[in-house]
Amino acid sequence: MLPTIARDGDVIIMIDQRKLPVQEVYVRCKSAAHVARAINTMVIRGAPAIGVAAAMGIAIGMRRSTATGTQKFASEFYKICEMMAATRPTAVNLFWAIERMKRSFAAAAEAGEGVDEIKARLDCEAEAIHDEDVASCRAMGAFGAEVVPLDAHILTHCNAGALATAGYGTALGVVRAAVEAGKRVAVFADETRPFLQGARLTAWELMHDGIDTTVITDNMAGALMSQGRVNFVVVGADRIAANGDTANKIGTYGVAVLAREHEIPFYVAAPLSTIDLRTPDGAHIPIEERSAREVTHVAGSQLAPDGARVWNPAFDVTPHAFIAGIITERGILRAPYAESLKRAFQPHVGALV
Ligand code: MRU
Repeated sequence: MLPTIARDGDVIIMIDQRKLPVQEVYVRCKSAAHVARAINTMVIRGAPAIGVAAAMGIAIGMRRSTATGTQKFASEFYKICEMMAATRPTAVNLFWAIERMKRSFAAAAEAGEGVDEIKARLDCEAEAIHDEDVASCRAMGAFGAEVVPLDAHILTHCNAGALATAGYGTALGVVRAAVEAGKRVAVFADETRPFLQGARLTAWELMHDGIDTTVITDNMAGALMSQGRVNFVVVGADRIAANGDTANKIGTYGVAVLAREHEIPFYVAAPLSTIDLRTPDGAHIPIEERSAREVTHVAGSQLAPDGARVWNPAFDVTPHAFIAGIITERGILRAPYAESLKRAFQPHVGALV
């Protein structure tokens, strides 16, 4: 499996996703601030991977703390959590992971643990977040593979693969599991302007696994569908609101509209950590706007005139009515999502397919 993020003592190692596929360069983050910068500048990206990186960054940040008293240690901890929370606003996995680290810290403090024990607890929590993410992806893959056609022509958008998670992937986990189950699978990867996660990352990781992959520019998806060459769409998510409205990479909404018009099932694959029951609907999801340069330039070359006004939202929202199912590690959630999403969080209900 491709390494997205790993820990080497008190250093976090990440493959630099800005440089792929041309260069395979690894970034070594030696502090929490360094990890926060890596998230903000997209060295690492993808909702689950962002959450995992933040948790690991908090753990190494506290490992490196020289505070001996619990009060100073606590104040450093909450500052680091704040710094992580300010990196990117849309992927709710980031805030979910920070919450988990805070709960772990609070439990240790309540138990009267000293600084060294708290450090050990935070390490364990970060490791659990990492390992659970891989397990969730595997489970999502198994559920999702069931609904992939035997002879599948799958369109995906952005990169919701091993690189966007701790490993295996959400949408691409479904692709991988379908291949492993013996289905014939060919993937169309939207290039995904402006950051080109599809052309650069999805194509790279699928080709690495020997999966049939064709890159298209975003404006080709409609033509492809109209020719009957797509029979399944699966994408990831950055935040799913309580009613099922789903924020994902900019352009996902357009793909969903096209899929609906051509009666092609449009699935979202995401772990429960991407579901945000506190956000009622898509209109309340904060959408990150990124720098104009991502639009005016490609790989350092200028395309648009100097001073051109730019709008660069990193995500859009697909209304829940366009979604055939939400593939999670607990099973496939179906409409009405207001009920199925809530039910997915209830303990002891078994698989929800
Ligand atoms: O801006 P990015 O690259 O972090 O956006 C990533 C996406 O939109 C992914 O589709 C989403 O995070 C799901 S990743 C499993």
